[in-house]
Amino acid sequence: MEKLVSLCKRKGFIFQSSSIYGGVNGCWDFGPLGVELKRNLKEHWWYRFVLSRDDMVGLDASILMHPRVWEASGHIEQFHDILVDCKECKKRFREDHLEQDSCPECGGELSEPRAFNSMLKTKMGVSEETGVETYLRPETCQSIFVDFKDVCTSTRVKIPFGIAQMGKSFRNEVNPRNFIFRSREFEQMEIEFFCREEEEELWFDRWKDDIWQWYLDIGIREEKLRWFEHPKETLAHYSKRTIDVEYEYPFGWGELQGLANRGAYDLTQHSQFSGKDLSYFDADLKERYFPSVIEPSAGADRTVLAVLCDAYAEETVKEEQRVIMRFHPQLAPIKAAILPLVKKDGLAEIAGDLEKKWRSFFTTYYDQAGAIGRRYRRMDEIGTPFCICVDYETKENDTVTVRERDSMEQVRMPVSEVPAYILKQCSIRPVCC
Ligand code: GAP
Repeated sequence: MEKLVSLCKRKGFIFQSSSIYGGVNGCWDFGPLGVELKRNLKEHWWYRFVLSRDDMVGLDASILMHPRVWEASGHIEQFHDILVDCKECKKRFREDHLEQDSCPECGGELSEPRAFNSMLKTKMGVSEETGVETYLRPETCQSIFVDFKDVCTSTRVKIPFGIAQMGKSFRNEVNPRNFIFRSREFEQMEIEFFCREEEEELWFDRWKDDIWQWYLDIGIREEKLRWFEHPKETLAHYSKRTIDVEYEYPFGWGELQGLANRGAYDLTQHSQFSGKDLSYFDADLKERYFPSVIEPSAGADRTVLAVLCDAYAEETVKEEQRVIMRFHPQLAPIKAAILPLVKKDGLAEIAGDLEKKWRSFFTTYYDQAGAIGRRYRRMDEIGTPFCICVDYETKENDTVTVRERDSMEQVRMPVSEVPAYILKQCSIRPVCC
């Protein structure tokens, strides 16, 4: 984990937020490579679960919502962590994490447990007196329920269908930790899938298969994944059943995504609290009802962390060590590096021109500094799947070599064939060329 955190900082994947001011606990910044990786991951998810399906629509709602939303959702009453304080060192711990945290180190006596709401409060409005207190949303899904009627009337969706949303959520975590695994500001990718009550289990099982398959398709090794079924006693207040996909991080198994059966809880609650009827009229059954909801809810940051952990490898090649990030080509921040074999004899100019031309098709990187072997290693370390080398033969017959990151094999091909070759392997959407 230490090596990975250091690589992420050194190469520009992830930085600590506000580090020049000493940092902010539980907040992280995605650097130039990290932002591309995360964007690719989210685009992959959006394409798979929204654009390529005919039973899903998207939403991008505001983070700030009416304060009553959080009463109706149960967050004001129920979204608590149980905390204990150490009377000696004054540190605060989550009671359910005491064992993992193996603390307090000072051996001090612990206070009685008490509830602490995990939502982050804020104030909307220009003056202290008239400002309205509300919260930064602790989950993205509530706006899906609140906007349910608007989505139904503005589109032609018919049950069974889903609404998907990705975006920031905020939780005042007591002990943010394990790099970007548990933070105070993070991104969720959530789906609320609405169906008839009698089809709840059917859709739960379908979603179970679909989300599992997605992790395999983004390149996560299956042996690093497992299911965890929440016992009835520990289910969240809205849930009839929840299972989690867990990933084996270097620090142990951790939740990547929850799959919950929320029943009709949320639409019923919001109908009661808002006074607006959020039931659904089923034209086929000629009846009105509150649909059941199956919710796959994933964390974008935790998935990025799983992708980073899964990709990291150290290898010895011809007695030389190389660090390699084996990202799936569709997720890799940079798809292809364009490298002149040497700077002289016009090779740098040819390579530079190709890089400019190809930049509009896929993310590229131009590098002419140092021996070609060193440049290949630099690209391996940031997970660039292809290195295209412009050499003397390029001048003669308009061909280049394309080196594949994992096998290190090189194939020679005409310059004109390169874009289609790269796009075929790196594009998230199928390429029709
Ligand atoms: N709407 C349901 C919901 O929010 P959750 O299990 O509390 O369920 C869903 O959160 C996902 O959001 C988790 O599986 C995790 O990937 C991510 N997540 C939750 N809290 C997080 C945190 N503090 N830091 C990073 N990711 C978090």
